[in-house]
Amino acid sequence: MSTAPTQSYSPAAIFVHWLVAALLVLQYLAGWNLDGHDAGAPAGPISNLHASLGLTIAALALYRLVRRFTRPVAQLPNIARWQQQAAEATHLALLLMLIVMPVAGVVTALNEGGAFVLFGFVSLPLMTPSEGLADLMEETHEIGATILLGLIGLHVVAALYHQFILGDGVMKRMLPFRR
Ligand code: HEM
Ligand code: HEM
Repeated sequence: MSTAPTQSYSPAAIFVHWLVAALLVLQYLAGWNLDGHDAGAPAGPISNLHASLGLTIAALALYRLVRRFTRPVAQLPNIARWQQQAAEATHLALLLMLIVMPVAGVVTALNEGGAFVLFGFVSLPLMTPSEGLADLMEETHEIGATILLGLIGLHVVAALYHQFILGDGVMKRMLPFRR
């Protein structure tokens, strides 16, 4: 495993980046339209989709988190140092939120007592975590959804700023078809 920085993102990193971005659109749409269910009753299709997509996103984020350290990407030399640090911090925060959100979501789901079915065949066990933990995780999941949206907004504005105002090569590193 090499730790020498490469000059741009690998095809796998680029694929995972845009896949996660697309899945997150579905994930928010599902989250905002969750079908409420009574304790103990089976969860509906939107809840099941939300749970399955959320765990898929967590796995992809974990993959990127590990790969960032085993195959680092060199910062572009023409980028101001504060921008490099801000980008690094935002990327890490984005990836961490993509792990925190599903963990908090799973604990919330366990507590809601609905039999969530993951990927069409694995049922989340029915159990009630301690009341305090369940409440904390539900709050975390709700506030986390807003924090994550804010981070994504910041990240996208920064990417567009680099592309259209600064005109440096940042965006190109994450595009699938580079010239
Ligand atoms: C990156 C992953 C995830 C994102 C971005 C996300 C996002 C959201 C959003 C935006 C809501 C609506 C919040 C509101 O306005 O009340 C929500 C609700 C919810 N999500 Fe997620 N979610 C994720 C993962 C998961 C996972 C993996 C599960 C369960 C296995 C889950 C279970 C729930 C539940 C049970 C609710 C309803 C919460 C409540 O009753 O207040 N989420 N999620
Ligand atoms: C229109 C939407 C988006 C655009 C234009 C965009 C653009 C970019 C660009 C240009 C980079 C490379 C930065 C560099 O060279 O260092 C990047 C990296 C990254 N982006 Fe995005 N992005 C978008 C959406 C998202 C979303 C929704 C997430 C996750 C919530 C995300 C997470 C990341 C992460 C974690 C990295 C660091 C690379 C890695 O470790 O995989 N991006 N993005």
